[in-house]
Amino acid sequence: MTGTPPAPVKQIHLAAHFPGVNNTTVWSDPRSGSQIDFASFTHLARTAERGKFDFFFLAEGLRLREMKGRIHDLDVAGRPESLTVLAALSAVTTRLGLAATVNSTFNEPYEVARRLATLDHLSGGRAAWNVVTSYDAFTGANFRRGGYLAEADRYSRAAEFLHTARELWDSWADGDLVADPAAGEFVRAGAGTFAHRGRQFDIAGRFNVPRGPQGHPVIIQAGDSDEGREFAAADADVIFSRHSRLEDGRAFYKDVKSRLARHGRRPDELKILPAVTYVLGDTEQDAAERAAEIRRAQVTPRNALVFLEGYWGRDLSGYDPDGPLPDIEPDLGEGVSKGRAQFRGDRGEVVRTWRALAAERGLSIRELVIETTGRQTFVGTARTVADQIDEFVRTDAADGFVFVPHLTPGGLDDLVDHVVPLLQEKGVFRTDYTGPTLRDHLGIGGPRARKEAS
Ligand SMILES: Cc1cc2nc3c(=O)[nH]c(=O)nc-3n(C[C@H](O)[C@H](O)[C@H](O)COP(=O)(O)O)c2cc1C
Repeated sequence: MTGTPPAPVKQIHLAAHFPGVNNTTVWSDPRSGSQIDFASFTHLARTAERGKFDFFFLAEGLRLREMKGRIHDLDVAGRPESLTVLAALSAVTTRLGLAATVNSTFNEPYEVARRLATLDHLSGGRAAWNVVTSYDAFTGANFRRGGYLAEADRYSRAAEFLHTARELWDSWADGDLVADPAAGEFVRAGAGTFAHRGRQFDIAGRFNVPRGPQGHPVIIQAGDSDEGREFAAADADVIFSRHSRLEDGRAFYKDVKSRLARHGRRPDELKILPAVTYVLGDTEQDAAERAAEIRRAQVTPRNALVFLEGYWGRDLSGYDPDGPLPDIEPDLGEGVSKGRAQFRGDRGEVVRTWRALAAERGLSIRELVIETTGRQTFVGTARTVADQIDEFVRTDAADGFVFVPHLTPGGLDDLVDHVVPLLQEKGVFRTDYTGPTLRDHLGIGGPRARKEAS
């Protein structure tokens, strides 16, 4: 035989987002369950593991969103703390990666590093950390350091936070475990010793959790700004992106992957996974009808008005959601919406664009919100959805996806039962896990290897 063997087929990475508090969750569906009962987390995580997903992802919100002092409807449900939930899930799963969103602005590296190292031990090497940077004073009011951080400083703190956490994890070498309890020698001399002197952190001492099975947990990044992309190119293993359209996805993918070389990294060392949704039907038409129904359930008449109020900066409760857009001009002063949903762009410009779109297409308030917010990514039969997913990854618009189901806790069942087997048949998704750790699932080298090499 001559010639080179065919290139291996690019493999898809799949992750599951727990819907819980989320503006796409359909609470009115009779199948909707609790967002806080452990049974809900277990159901979704076990479904993802049955589907051989890479990881299970929990978002974080450190303050309930508000609109003019009223709590955002979808936040009333509350949100439990991620690392605690994941520690419990590590006991009812065996292979699934467990990813927690943890803020780098309102926490301290020592505490976060030990909690993640602990999760990595408890789960046998399955921990991941989504580093987010919320800086706003509204969220900060819940913390000792409330609001002290200028927006411009959030990524420099995030980078130093992550580098400090790595120093703590690296302060133990492999095998620095209990040496000889009989001799009363519990740690090898030097294990855990660290000293970090930087602009954000000035800490020294001994780190009290031995090196985890992965060395470092997998690092995820979800910001989209230039600084966010640069931070990911330098330091992250995975990007959780919002670029879920084919063309847009390809442009983002190309941009971020081209940044890696400057940091001495190969393109495949960073996986790009956009947040996506899906709707299945028996036929294309059936799926499209279901997708439209789900959009209407997500954008209730009240949600449509509340959404618009965030842009108009005014009370719009007197307007008919099924009528035309408000005839009054937006109040462009201080925003009325606070929290993670806060809008940071040019609201006046957005309102002008919407007026033009609504006039051109004859859209009501509710129809406009349905049209301009979060359409489903993959809609079709199991077969056509599997084909779309494959095309996306094959043409470098993504390395895989974080699926955000619209139902808690059964929202992934159809995907795992009907679409995953087709991806496996195509040879583009694993039929079983090939290793125990999340780094194994993602096919990314571990920092343990880098440390040994150095
Ligand atoms: C898909 C996606 C998911 C995110 N999830 C969270 C989250 O759960 N909690 C949070 O505080 N921020 C979350 N963020 C916000 C970002 O991580 C980041 O802090 C924010 O986008 C600001 O960074 P940027 O200016 O670089 O975009 C998310 C962003 C994206 C794109």
